[in-house]
Amino acid sequence: MRRSCWSLLALAALSCSATTADPREGPGTFIAFDPDFADYRSWRAHDLGVLAPLGHPPGRQTLYVSRPLAPGAARYDDRAIIVREIQSDPDRTKWDLFAMARRGGGYNASGSIDWEFFILSLDSQGVPHVVARGISPAESGPTPYHPGEGVTCNTCHGNEDARRGDCVLSLEIRPAPP
Ligand code: HEC
Repeated sequence: MRRSCWSLLALAALSCSATTADPREGPGTFIAFDPDFADYRSWRAHDLGVLAPLGHPPGRQTLYVSRPLAPGAARYDDRAIIVREIQSDPDRTKWDLFAMARRGGGYNASGSIDWEFFILSLDSQGVPHVVARGISPAESGPTPYHPGEGVTCNTCHGNEDARRGDCVLSLEIRPAPP
């Protein structure tokens, strides 16, 4: 397929998935799509065991990092993706999958600066798909992450304290403050 067709496809995907535009966003940003998550299970994995952390459902939890933090780095590189997989059901199509992609360009400037949030789901073949994305992604219906009281991903990942560790909260993969 010629290059222009791919551009059109990318544009179509962008409008279908309704990514939240941030008017302050600069150029040269990374916009992740389904293929960017496809091989997440081959990324560097951190098995957290069975947990029930605040803001996330209970179950066996594993973090996958596409571009691990460079030694001593205070932040992740743009294009880094972190997937949090929670095996909250025997059926993997019902697992809870959250992700953050370092989009860059000043995206999400008043929350998790430079990060875009994602809710993913696996199909019956185990292939991940983006269900919702943006600054405040919401699945249809109430979820523990959107209890309807103004709590969004940014509430926990975009506050001042979170920003000191590049908005990453898990101690295993959180950058040390500069
Ligand atoms: C109520 C607070 C809270 C909310 C709301 C919340 N999270 Fe988290 N999230 C956490 C905590 C705490 C951790 C780290 C847990 C741990 O250390 O076990 C975490 C971890 C993660 C991680 C692994 C990377 C990291 O920061 O450690 C991802 C990815 C993630 N959350 C995505 C999301 C997305 C997407 C949303 C919104 C749909 C969201 N979270 C909403 C508290 C929250």
